[in-house]
Amino acid sequence: MITADELTLPEWACVSPRRKEHIARVTTLILSWAEQMRLTTEERNCWFDAARWHDALRDAPEGALRELVHDDKMPAPLLHGPAAAVRLARDGEARQDVLDAIRYHTVGWPQWGRTGKALYMADYLEPGREFMGAERAQLAAQVSKAFDATFREVVIQRAQWTRKKGREPFPESTALLRAVSTDGEHGS
Ligand SMILES: [Fe+2]
Repeated sequence: MITADELTLPEWACVSPRRKEHIARVTTLILSWAEQMRLTTEERNCWFDAARWHDALRDAPEGALRELVHDDKMPAPLLHGPAAAVRLARDGEARQDVLDAIRYHTVGWPQWGRTGKALYMADYLEPGREFMGAERAQLAAQVSKAFDATFREVVIQRAQWTRKKGREPFPESTALLRAVSTDGEHGS
């Protein structure tokens, strides 16, 4: 288990203590899957770094995020992922899987490899969120044995949640939902 105090974040990170607790729970969960799935050290480190850095700029001022992303149209809550990816790349991070996982973690991305999928699931399934506790715990427990099926379920649940809240889904989320629905039809 990784505690908030043990988390190593980049020196430019901007996170509240509460956010740090969330990041620690996401990181702990993703590492438990990595261990159960006996990942190579290389892949495990991708998952670990994606998890601990994904919200590094979550509490940064909007202006600073827009400056990093060079985008004045993107909705404010979506900026922190792309901004962190830009900042990490500037620091020399070159693993595309890690950068793509972080860049798209809020909206989803159909082209993700396992790192992006694992982060998307861990961010949603971490135990500190206050809704659907038992159902999400059950999904978290089955990730290591049914990775893709659980990912599909998480994508569907998140889309349902957006609809229930009466929010318009982001185009990337719709593309991801379409992609996993097609996978399901093909039985893979
Ligand atoms: Fe997060």
